[in-house]
Amino acid sequence: MTDKTQILKFVEDFVREAVQKHDSGHGWSHIERVVRLALHIHECEGKGDSYIIELGALLHDIGDSKFASHDGPAEIRRILSSQGVDPGIIDEVVSINESISFSKGKHDAPKSDELQIVQDADRLDAMGAIGIARAFNYGGFAGNEIYDPREGYANPPNLAAARSHASSTVNHFYEKLLHLKDLMNTDTGRKLAGERHDFMVKYLEQFYREWNS
Ligand code: ADP
Ligand code: NI
Repeated sequence: MTDKTQILKFVEDFVREAVQKHDSGHGWSHIERVVRLALHIHECEGKGDSYIIELGALLHDIGDSKFASHDGPAEIRRILSSQGVDPGIIDEVVSINESISFSKGKHDAPKSDELQIVQDADRLDAMGAIGIARAFNYGGFAGNEIYDPREGYANPPNLAAARSHASSTVNHFYEKLLHLKDLMNTDTGRKLAGERHDFMVKYLEQFYREWNS
């Protein structure tokens, strides 16, 4: 095994263990999908360093405040230094972890190629059929309503209808999921996001049809 392969295997085992307490939408299968999608986007775009992308994707959810009270960047530095990873690479991976999330992401700061790619992959996994499953799964985990008809969304879905005080999972589509296609960094991400977005819009239309029938 090469050094990099050994390090990736070590990090994989660490992350597998670390995400065990997350809800199933943020668990190991999410990490695996993000790694796969990120490497696919990297191949299509021909930019970024695949080693940083893979480490960044593996470690992107470490320290997520929804599940952990520990400091993700410090944890990542500890793990990667223990494996002798180059300090420049550690900085890149930490910066992906710090800047990736929808809420934490500083929207106007410049993004490295690797961050752009891992962020697109993470956002794509919040869209489409899997994104819908993850949203309702997280809503259940957090004890939220599936839908509150008093929130009164338009059909077809209308982004302007988002209610920041509402907490149903359907509201989460308006607050976040339906915005993601316009936040893609790469052309490949945009292409993949289009199909997933359209599916969510169709899904909501059917949801309201059934709710109101
Ligand atoms: P980010 O790291 O980009 O901020 P999150 O960790 O908030 O993303 O979201 C990860 C997953 O959890 C996504 O699939 C998202 O839709 C889901 N999720 C987060 N908050 C909610 C919520 N309030 N209701 C339903 N799903 C949620
Ligand atoms: Ni994630």
